[in-house]
Amino acid sequence: MLKVSVISSAELVKDWELWGKTAIAVDVLRATTTIVAAFDAGCTECYPATSPDEARAMRRGLGDGALLGGERKAQPLEGFDLGNSPLEYTADRVAGRQLVITTSNGTAAIRRTGRARIGLIASLRNARATAEAAWTLQRDLVILCAGTGGRFSLEDTVGAGMIVDYLLKTARQRLALNDLATAAHDLCNLYGHRLLELLQLSAHGQYLVRLGHGADLEFCARANVSRLVPVYAAGVIRPGPVAP
Ligand code: MLT
Repeated sequence: MLKVSVISSAELVKDWELWGKTAIAVDVLRATTTIVAAFDAGCTECYPATSPDEARAMRRGLGDGALLGGERKAQPLEGFDLGNSPLEYTADRVAGRQLVITTSNGTAAIRRTGRARIGLIASLRNARATAEAAWTLQRDLVILCAGTGGRFSLEDTVGAGMIVDYLLKTARQRLALNDLATAAHDLCNLYGHRLLELLQLSAHGQYLVRLGHGADLEFCARANVSRLVPVYAAGVIRPGPVAP
């Protein structure tokens, strides 16, 4: 029976828990949503960095054509081309370009998926497509919520629960869920039909609204509008396809 585990914060996962598995990084507000948006807008490759300095060094390695994006405390970084609002990642900014991105929690979670057999990038916008792709791989699954500063975050857990829900529907058989996967699925049943309200309730969502990013919440709350399933391997995220 396939095992599906949800981890409340990527910082908590041990390397051995990922070996040989499919890992899915989820940072609904906003890093993984932004990365999915960037690929939907035609970005070619995305390099997740864990610090602004590392991001600058990666961009130097790629050359001036590459864009530098990201945030700290949800604010754009000095000298960067883009912040972490998915609304900035339009075709006229990112189509045909490489991107280096660093965010407070999301890009670290993505990097953790590098310990797994394959890493996938999920948001509410591509939750169903991610679940379907993960199912085709037929490996035990670990869904890594980015969380906030090592702590639980409501929106990532509901995002994970939505993936669990689609997996259960796709699998049409029993899956071995860990306790947080069961709880995330229950939370998805509670909030799945009022996702904008959920993001507005979440602590990070309220912080983003205070910063004037209310429109980001609306964008991030739109479920299953993207069929893209970005794949992280060997230090780079590409817009798919997902292959065993
Ligand atoms: C993160 O990585 O913590 C987030 O994406 C923060 C944000 O909202 O920009």
